[in-house]
Amino acid sequence: MCGIVCYVGNNRAEPILIEGLKRLEYRGYDSSGLAVQDGSHIDHIRAVGKIVELEKAINGIDIKGTSGIAHTRWATHGEPTEHNAHPHSDEKGNVFIIHNGIIENYQSIKTRLEKKGVKFRSETDTEVLAHLIAQYFEGDLKEAVRKTMSQVEGTFGIAVIHRDLPGQIVVARRGSPLIIGVGEDGNFAASDVSAMVRYTKKVLHLNDNELAVITADGISIFTAQAKAVTRDAETVEWSAEDVDLDGFPHFMLKEIFEQPDTIRNAMRGRVDKGEGVPKLGGIMPVWDDLKECRHIVIVACGTSYYAGCVASYIFEKLTEIDVEVEVASEFRYRKLNFPPNTFIIAMSQSGETADTLSAIREARRKGARLLGIVNVVGSSISRETEAGIYNHAGPEIGVASTKIFISQLTILTLLALLLGRHHNMSLTDGVEAIRAMEKLPDQVKDILSKSNHIQAIAEKYYKYGNWLFLGRKYGYPIAMEGALKLKEISYIHAEGYAAGEMKHGPIALINPDMPTVAIAPLDSMYEKMINNIQEIKSRKGPVIAIVTEGDTMIKEIADDVIEIPPTLDFLYPILTVVPCQLLAYYCAQFLKRDIDKPRNLAKSVTVE
Ligand code: G6P
Repeated sequence: MCGIVCYVGNNRAEPILIEGLKRLEYRGYDSSGLAVQDGSHIDHIRAVGKIVELEKAINGIDIKGTSGIAHTRWATHGEPTEHNAHPHSDEKGNVFIIHNGIIENYQSIKTRLEKKGVKFRSETDTEVLAHLIAQYFEGDLKEAVRKTMSQVEGTFGIAVIHRDLPGQIVVARRGSPLIIGVGEDGNFAASDVSAMVRYTKKVLHLNDNELAVITADGISIFTAQAKAVTRDAETVEWSAEDVDLDGFPHFMLKEIFEQPDTIRNAMRGRVDKGEGVPKLGGIMPVWDDLKECRHIVIVACGTSYYAGCVASYIFEKLTEIDVEVEVASEFRYRKLNFPPNTFIIAMSQSGETADTLSAIREARRKGARLLGIVNVVGSSISRETEAGIYNHAGPEIGVASTKIFISQLTILTLLALLLGRHHNMSLTDGVEAIRAMEKLPDQVKDILSKSNHIQAIAEKYYKYGNWLFLGRKYGYPIAMEGALKLKEISYIHAEGYAAGEMKHGPIALINPDMPTVAIAPLDSMYEKMINNIQEIKSRKGPVIAIVTEGDTMIKEIADDVIEIPPTLDFLYPILTVVPCQLLAYYCAQFLKRDIDKPRNLAKSVTVE
């Protein structure tokens, strides 16, 4: 989705902005642009395609300015063309603006402005903002932006400059993320910390409907009513190295290999071995009600949704709570009847997914309690929920989510254990569970050490155009996540199915050209999975089985097996998903796909 990066300081802005845009590439985009100001001169350059196209367009132009705004655009209104790329300007070229989000009433504003004779040069919703700001401008850019904000409906994170006010950037937000970076040699603003973490770790979060004036040596924040706000800077835990490849060919592979640490980070300081009770400080503000709660709804999208599906089985096993899992985009349109003291858990890596945000807003209206499980500290979901748990997994750059899935499973398991121990789970079971969880990082490492074997399997099958992933109980959401990973990055068609449902349809597809990945560890569903594998083999379908070390039965019937270490049944998903991630990664590599930036996808989907 669209990305924003801004700088105002003592150094040349252009290289800083280009570097920031490159850090935002992973979010998905189709064009980019910048406006850099030097006195009353503004260099305004835009290009379709990757950032290197923008660099080519800049090549040979001496951009001297020390303040500027830059943007990666993911087309919503109007095709990805140069004239639709941001920054947009008013007719006189005084105001330049970049915008993330959607202006819902842009059409009526546009008609009104056109009646007044304003000529539009793009098909975007954003352009109305440039014209409105220009019309309201009477020497004070903040005031012009503020008045414009009162006219528009929808979501926005914006950054604006004006030809008459060099060295000043005004930013504002409603619904789209916007973070201000406090630097040594100038200040920043971005839609995502990763765009500026190379320069500063001190950040200020803007709340919805706030705006800020940023100069080289000052940041002033205001409410929509123009009241000054004081806010302390926070320090982000991400480091510049987190956003580097560190020798890996892709961020996705780097993040898959980080997973042993991801599990450790999710558990660090959060377990009491002796009592078999996790400690989750972030939910303590709601603990008295949460421990009495008997109904939880997890709302999420994409990979986060599948983590929620795994959790529903884990909660069912460990606690007395009924857990429903809903795709956020469906949840918000349902007629909701919650039992009293229902908690909604919004789960989101980015904490900015528009559907998940809308879902919790709707749930709040209906009186539900709200918890968040998010990775990005200070993100919208973390701010709009009453309490929650952070993943502490560092930035996830690969568009296809991997380490966050494992982190979400770890955290949800800790939460289920905590609640279970307050319900009827015994001390022995609690201690056993935590012991088994502590082994997980090394067990994942063990699977990763077999990546060559998984790569060889991918080489054997990557040309097959249709795949099936099957699992039961804990393995069912892993089948769906495995299929999602494969289609996201390799563009191979894949379906994830509950293995028991195979005979109700997918079995018609089984033939020697359709490989099936069977999630078949030694858990309570093992025998049933063997039956499914037999059914596939008797129809000559190739089978890649993910099995527990030492398994002999499946080895005899499956074409290929990937072994994982033994663990407790409800912890298997944390292990079985790893071979699925690697299979998807290596298939995409053999197919020479753009693994970290798969076509049409975006890391953070901030539009509904
Ligand atoms: C996008 C990403 C997925 C991600 C989903 C939910 O579709 O491409 O990788 O799982 O959004 O994102 P969230 O940030 O809410 O977890």
